Amino acid sequence: MRELKNVTCIEDLRKLARRKVPRAFFDYAEAGSYSEETLRANRRDFEAIKLRQRVLVDVSARDTATTILGGKVSLPIALGPVAMTGLEYGDGEILACRAAHSAGVPFTMSTLSICSIEDVAAAVKKPFWFQLYVMKDRGFVRSLVERAIAAKCSALVLTVDLQVLGQRHIDIKNGLSVPPSLKIKNLINMASKPRWVASVLLGKRWTFGNLHGYVKGMEDVRSLAQWVGSQFDPTLNWKDVEWIKSIWPGKLVIKGILDLEDAKLAAKTGADALVVSNHGGRQLDGAPSSISALAKIADVVGSEIEVMFDGGVRSGQDVLRALALGARGCLIGRAYIFGLGAAGEAGVKKAIEIIRKELDVSMALTGLKSVQEIGRHTLAQ
Ligand SMILES: Cc1cc2nc3c(=O)[nH]c(=O)nc-3n(C[C@H](O)[C@H](O)[C@H](O)COP(=O)(O)O)c2cc1C
Repeated sequence: MRELKNVTCIEDLRKLARRKVPRAFFDYAEAGSYSEETLRANRRDFEAIKLRQRVLVDVSARDTATTILGGKVSLPIALGPVAMTGLEYGDGEILACRAAHSAGVPFTMSTLSICSIEDVAAAVKKPFWFQLYVMKDRGFVRSLVERAIAAKCSALVLTVDLQVLGQRHIDIKNGLSVPPSLKIKNLINMASKPRWVASVLLGKRWTFGNLHGYVKGMEDVRSLAQWVGSQFDPTLNWKDVEWIKSIWPGKLVIKGILDLEDAKLAAKTGADALVVSNHGGRQLDGAPSSISALAKIADVVGSEIEVMFDGGVRSGQDVLRALALGARGCLIGRAYIFGLGAAGEAGVKKAIEIIRKELDVSMALTGLKSVQEIGRHTLAQ
């Protein structure tokens, strides 16, 4: 794709996405909650971690492959769950899943996707991961889990850090609130993005695909969004994790752990993995960066449960840093969403390839031949 010719880093994809995606949806993807302190900390703390340059090591044969949740991956990342991916680019969930699979990494579909579980399952050849929000309506939650089983999803990612919604100021200003009330200026802005309009108009759906038709009396985007807004459950607790475990037979990942005590409790549940995450700085503003929470958690519970990481990953160097601090793999969020907004499936592929090459070169320059050799010694003191 011509537009991608001069793209050399994730930041280029972000700039391109900003031009191609309507303002309200670009802002939705980029923003953090409240003052965005935690969003900024996610990046700032990554940049403060220095890698240890090593020389005169034969690094001619290098391999970025590893395993996550027992499955082989070509590099230690997975695409994380992102709500409304299909409004960054039409059929975005299908395109991102295809790009992930062709690159040999897992894709996670959000509960709040535009395409449905069945849409994606019918359009791709390999199983994907499904992310679950536990809504107040437990009957609906059970039906979602059953649909994920029927679609042969290979892991269930249970998100636990959204029992109430953090506020993003810009979404309210853009009318991307619950219920949505997009302003005229946003509609005019949408009309000025012809490629986006075409992709979304030709897409399978414009509303929450996993909910539409399953929630009675909620047929339009407005009422569905309202329903979603009222369904996040502040009673969510560890007993619910037990219940989910009892109805989901496959691999279980608990996403949204930032505190060591919570990590210990997560390890006790018998889940297969946890994700150290602050939801990309979109929930508790003022919380520490994810990367600053990783090492302690990995050191204490890493032998009992697989520790994954997300929050602020924008390069292969960041993946190397997170693995050096004990992560098994990283979920990426905005990095691939910017690729999707920039150029659809090709843009997601580009995002993954950028990270792959950066990781590969950085491994070489730190004297490493394989992901298994990465450790604390990879960091400069
Ligand atoms: C636009 C957007 C929507 C998101 N939607 C979800 C979601 O539906 N479920 C979920 O568990 N996490 C969601 N997240 C959080 C991501 O899975 C991930 O934790 C976060 O993006 C990681 O930070 P990064 O974007 O800096 O890589 C969302 C993140 C973004 C940016």
